[in-house]
Amino acid sequence: MKIEIRYQSRGGNTKAAAKQIANEFAIQAQSIEVPITEYTDILFLGGGVYEWRMDKTLREFMNSLDCQKIGQMICFSTTGYMNSAIEQMKHIAKEKGIAVNHNELLIKMLLKGHSWLGLEGGHLSDKQMKTIINFTDKIKKEIQ
Ligand SMILES: Cc1cc2nc3c(=O)[nH]c(=O)nc-3n(C[C@H](O)[C@H](O)[C@H](O)COP(=O)(O)O)c2cc1C
Repeated sequence: MKIEIRYQSRGGNTKAAAKQIANEFAIQAQSIEVPITEYTDILFLGGGVYEWRMDKTLREFMNSLDCQKIGQMICFSTTGYMNSAIEQMKHIAKEKGIAVNHNELLIKMLLKGHSWLGLEGGHLSDKQMKTIINFTDKIKKEIQ
């Protein structure tokens, strides 16, 4: 089974989440600058929320996806609080005819690690790391 991970991250939080997901599947997390060129059974796709919405580059990446090359997509996001990146990802996937797995991961940073506050991102707490491991464990069981 081919599993790929792509992330969009301005401040490092979503990249950190992507790396942890990738570790759990023993694969490499890559940014959305790296296109999907081969058929992929599961694409984990993640991004942050900026001014209420997903980043423009993530939207462009999704628009460039060939739906024939994606078996299903699993969405993840880090955010201050809002779930809008995941909601937008699911909306675009539906428009493109890409199946979306019912599992999704939202890591709320609240007031921590936001680059707009001059804070350094990329530091997930032990509890957040555990949440990611629980998320990947559940998916591993479901795809066995
Ligand atoms: C410019 C900017 C705008 C943001 N706007 C929102 C927002 O509207 N709602 C929200 O819940 N979080 C917001 N956040 C918080 C980010 O979603 C959060 O820090 C997320 O972890 C960023 O991911 P990244 O570090 O991978 O870029 C914003 C962060 C930045 C830097």
